[in-house]
Formats: sequence, C-alpha cells, structure tokens
Amino acid sequence: MNKQNKIIVVGIGPGNPDYIVPKGLKTIQAARYLVGGKRALAEFSHAGQDTCAITADIPGVMAFIRDRLQQANVVAMVSGDPGYYSLLDALRREFPAELIEVIPGISSMQYAFAKLALPWHDATLASFHGRVPGASEVAYQPGKILGMLTDGEHNSHTIAEVLCNIGWPQETRLYICSRLSYEDETIYTTTLQDAAEFPVVTHGILIAVD
Ligand SMILES: C[S@@+](CC[C@H](N)C(=O)[O-])C[C@H]1O[C@@H](n2cnc3c(N)ncnc32)[C@H](O)[C@@H]1O
Repeated sequence: MNKQNKIIVVGIGPGNPDYIVPKGLKTIQAARYLVGGKRALAEFSHAGQDTCAITADIPGVMAFIRDRLQQANVVAMVSGDPGYYSLLDALRREFPAELIEVIPGISSMQYAFAKLALPWHDATLASFHGRVPGASEVAYQPGKILGMLTDGEHNSHTIAEVLCNIGWPQETRLYICSRLSYEDETIYTTTLQDAAEFPVVTHGILIAVD
C-alpha cells in the first residue's frame, strides 16, 4: 500500500448541502475515489469519479477503499460529524490511524441544539440508533438535558415511554426533531407524556430538558 495515500473522511453535515464546510466540499469535488451513502453520492458526486455506495455490505466498502488506496486518496462521505456514530469506527478497526484524515462536519445533534438556541455543554448525549444506551446514560437526574439519536424501532413514541418508565417526570419538556436542515424540517415541542400525540419520528433527534 502506498503510504502517501489517505482515507479522507468528510462529515457532510445534517443533510442540506448548505451545511457542509467548504474544505469538506472541495475535498469531495477533487476526489478521484469517492465513497458515500446513495443520497450523498447523488448530491455530491460528478461524472469521472469512481464511486462506491455504502450499503450493508461494509466488507465490500472496505475492499473498495483498500484497493483504490493503492492509486490515490479515497474520500469517504458520512452524515453529520465523522466522530459521532459513523463509518469512522469501522475504518479505524480496518486501517491504521495514520492513514485516516478527518474533516469534521456539523452533527445532526449539534444542529438540533443550535435550532433550540440551547447550549449543549452540560447535555448528556445518548444513541438509540441500532443500539440501546446504558441505564446510567439515560437515567433521570434533576436538571438533566438529554439529547438522543433515534431509529425505526427506538422512536419518539417508544423512547418517551421508556423515559417515563425509568423515572423521568411525565411533564418533562421534549423536543422532537425531524429532517433537520431540510425544507420539511420539523421540531415539535411537547412533554414526555404527550409525545405519542404527535406523529412518530423515527430517524430524528429527541432532546429532553428537565
Ligand atoms: C448513524 S447516526 C449518524 C449521526 C451523524 N454522524 C451525525 O453526526 O449526525 C444516524 C442518526 O442520526 C440522526 N440524524 C442524522 N441526520 C439527521 C437529520 N437531518 N435530522 C434528524 N436526525 C438526523 C438520526 O437519529 C439518525 O438515526
């Protein structure tokens, strides 16, 4: 493997291309080899680039990267920020850290707090995306601010119920954020006990504020 070539992991932000940093966009545009989700490839790739869509076949993606890395840098686009639940984890397990460069992006979590004008330095962050966080992460404490990633199974209805069942006050303020940064972005302001009265949000952000 040519030691000069790098895997450059670019965070593309919450979705709307207005929220990618210029350095990330330039890196993507200049890429010869480009990896990313189908939506990111449709948005950012151009003719002439050799691309690989990130699917469930992660070994296939790794094989593409390993092979192309012998020729030139490989750019991998991930949603939000690479350091927050992305392909970067798997890349770090597969390749030495010296081969990996990261260009940060705006995380969907960061964006959600920004939309609420709510500082996040005291917040606890937990992910229900394809996993269940530890009990201590989501446990109730007076004054706690809890930001959560969701998925199809662990969504705005089920998580609100879980939090009530583990001792969060039912009247706790809950922000349910969906499709952040897109034209149809929606942020519902409710309480844990009333969350089920709003449409279910699957791949979104929840912020509970005691
Ligand atoms: C695998 S995680 C990726 C997180 C990403 N690295 C980040 O920093 O935002 C996917 C989860 O991020 C959240 N997410 C990503 N984009 C979002 C958006 N535009 N609006 C709301 N939630 C989003 C959802 O909870 C989704 O299930």
